[in-house]
Amino acid sequence: MQPTREQAWETLTRYTRSEALRRHALAVEAATRAYARRFGEDEELWGVTALLHDFDYEIHPTLDKHPQDGAPILREEGYPEVVIEAILSHAEHLSVPRDTPLKKTLFACDELAGFIHACGLVRPDGIATLEPKSVKKKLKQPSFAAGVHRDEVYRGAEELGIHLDDHITNVIAALQPIAKELGLRTS
Ligand SMILES: [Fe+2]
Ligand SMILES: [Fe+2]
Repeated sequence: MQPTREQAWETLTRYTRSEALRRHALAVEAATRAYARRFGEDEELWGVTALLHDFDYEIHPTLDKHPQDGAPILREEGYPEVVIEAILSHAEHLSVPRDTPLKKTLFACDELAGFIHACGLVRPDGIATLEPKSVKKKLKQPSFAAGVHRDEVYRGAEELGIHLDDHITNVIAALQPIAKELGLRTS
């Protein structure tokens, strides 16, 4: 079956009450969808994958469970293996090879979308005028959004084969239309 966004949103919100986690899912979805369009791939399928990549984080907040223990739940709900395997591949500790464009894109968008979101939260106009230069500067400040793994941001862009500046520009552009949903100021 081809899963729909509506179905994925229903699954996500059934397992995820946290507003911050829902917003993270929306941010990664927007970035991943933008790349699906750019690459001429299946936008709905890529969006579903991104929306669900951390769906079990609230019930499995530790790496001995997330995301691997979420996989059987998704299987039970009827999601195809291509979605499930891509979700497993976003977790470094599982060492699932990122050997498809979807896997590379999800990995590249996950930490960076989170980081750009964090940058926007401390700016008076959110991400409306955010530029790669200031994102890169913040990446070099370990205390800022300390939970974001810098090495994964850099490796993600590298594996995707897109220059970090361009990748940052693309992700900012993808998030701008949903800034309000992400809780960012827009004026
Ligand atoms: Fe995750
Ligand atoms: Fe994530």
